[in-house]
Amino acid sequence: MSENRIDNVLHETRHFEPSPEFRAQARYSLEDYQRLYRQSLEDPDTFWGSVASELHWFTPWQRVLEWNEPFAKWFVGGQTNIAYNALDRHLQARGDKTAIVWEGEDGEVRRYSYRELHRQVCRAANLLLSLGVQTGDRVVIYLPMIPEVAIAMLACARIGATHTVVFGGFSAGALADRINDSGARLLITADGSYRKGAVVPLKSNADEAAQSTPNLERMLVVRRTGQPVPMQPGRDLWWDESLEDVPDQHEAVALDAEHPLYILYTSGSTGKPKGVLHTTGGYMVNTYLTAGAVFDLKEDDVYWCTADVGWVTGHSYVVYGMLLNGATVLMYEGAPNYPDMGRFWKIVQDHRVTILYTAPTAIRSFMRAGNEWPAKYDLSSLRLLGSVGEPINPEAWIWYFQTIGGGRCPVVDTWWQTETGAIMLTTLPGAHATKPGSAGVPMFGIEPAIVDNEGHELGADEGGLLVIKRPWPSMLRTIYGDDNRYRSQYWGEIPHVYFAGDGARRDADGYYTIVGRIDDVLNVSGHRLGTMEVESALVSHPAVAEAAVVGRPDPVKGEGIVAFVTLQTGAQVGGDELRAHVSKEIGAIARPDEIRFADALPKTRSGKIMRRLLRQIASGEELKGDTSTLEDAGVLEQLRTVH
Ligand code: WTA
Repeated sequence: MSENRIDNVLHETRHFEPSPEFRAQARYSLEDYQRLYRQSLEDPDTFWGSVASELHWFTPWQRVLEWNEPFAKWFVGGQTNIAYNALDRHLQARGDKTAIVWEGEDGEVRRYSYRELHRQVCRAANLLLSLGVQTGDRVVIYLPMIPEVAIAMLACARIGATHTVVFGGFSAGALADRINDSGARLLITADGSYRKGAVVPLKSNADEAAQSTPNLERMLVVRRTGQPVPMQPGRDLWWDESLEDVPDQHEAVALDAEHPLYILYTSGSTGKPKGVLHTTGGYMVNTYLTAGAVFDLKEDDVYWCTADVGWVTGHSYVVYGMLLNGATVLMYEGAPNYPDMGRFWKIVQDHRVTILYTAPTAIRSFMRAGNEWPAKYDLSSLRLLGSVGEPINPEAWIWYFQTIGGGRCPVVDTWWQTETGAIMLTTLPGAHATKPGSAGVPMFGIEPAIVDNEGHELGADEGGLLVIKRPWPSMLRTIYGDDNRYRSQYWGEIPHVYFAGDGARRDADGYYTIVGRIDDVLNVSGHRLGTMEVESALVSHPAVAEAAVVGRPDPVKGEGIVAFVTLQTGAQVGGDELRAHVSKEIGAIARPDEIRFADALPKTRSGKIMRRLLRQIASGEELKGDTSTLEDAGVLEQLRTVH
């Protein structure tokens, strides 16, 4: 969380009204927003009930909300199926409409109409059933960005199996942890995927993970790259072969509104990633609402969210929210810079993308690459731009707005989290003026506040902690298998409110600016990583005695990772080896940018590592604040020297 960033935002006074053309065609005007927002707080039952009734329910709900802090039940007694709503519901009116258009990194393009996607999902659902997967079972999905990832998720949802998607960039160890924690018996993976022209060996990671996952019985393997992979008889099956004779008719199962839809692991401030549990009805209703409203969806839009389905953005705004709205979604398999920095802009041009939703880190790296890349392509199809995952600095915002959006596309800066399930703070593109660097105002039904450490509400422009004062339909229901952790981390930090873990301010117009995490969670290229996770990975190397990991501001990634390491007596190891070790333990996204060796880490006399000092050292700042509690002042000099 850099102070520069706060300063930049404080000095930012520009704001941009939606153009008259955009406003004229928009779903929501400012008056609509104000009226509906008021209703959503004053009469939430009517508000949420009317959104929910736009969707299909096998059995209507009896009560909109049952709140037994910190446990919420939404649409109590209702029965529905999110895959039915995402597919079957559209077959009449949109059967031939493109649901997914997919581009592989190698240039291959595939298109699925709603009818075809429905057929594929029904077959996959029947396949899962024939393998003995039952309602309530967990299925882990470790796939690249190929259409099968959406098909697998929807097939699980259709039969009521709870999916856990693991990002394809995670290592075998990280995958094994998630298989074990979720208790999955089935893993769906692929032979490999393409990334920067090379093959990512997903199946061999899966095989390695399977050596330490006693509960795992079967692996379904999607063929993507075609390189030879070992198949273990009795355990491994090819996805395509297994689907050959499977019927393509399947009746979606009526599930309780609170039936667990998915578990998605995310980093917190303790060592072990937590399994955020989302359920069916409330998640469905709020992703449906927010996808339509925030992206101003129209029937002929071609919407592209560049997030991987391994993250929550991919769950809510590549798959569920979008298909619930009957949208056309573009999916891209590969790297943004392959074969060159023009790839994204070529995709926008080739598929006539109208809505682009991406992360500040990508925007900053394109900005660095130079305007000649977007200038080569026709970006005139774009009408709306979105940003998500980390604070966007005003310079990057303006570049995105001017250079990519040609000054005509509103930019929505959407703040939300894995835990919130759906967008919480944003502007609505035809309703609100935008302010670079500020996420905007609360979405319907969301009641945020800025509080101090004791929970007292703060006034305009006072920096504090962001909290949410009432439950909302798409909120996490618990941490899988750990209700106590859920209670204490989210509803116990500040009594009776949801604690987001972000620092923020609200200005006099009611716009929220997110400053960044206030806990030991890093945000590296829009990916959440716990400092403790990286530390445990480092300490698992035999040469390492102790490690402390901090973030430092990075012009492209938002935050970079700096690790301070002490070695076992007599041990020798290079920084590169340790960096590679972390990649192997967690995945390349967690690889430290810099490793600094020292004889000791700065600690208080009671033995606590002084992270504040390490953060200052890592970012090359002058040491500020009190160092008198430091046990051994000599270590500071050593840490400041880069080896
Ligand atoms: C950060 C991603 C500023 C924030 C959807 C949050 C943001 C964390 C924004 C959640 C934004 C997300 N402006 N910060 N528009 N969006 N964040 O769970 O720190 O991967 O707590 O969910 O990302 O990351 P997660």
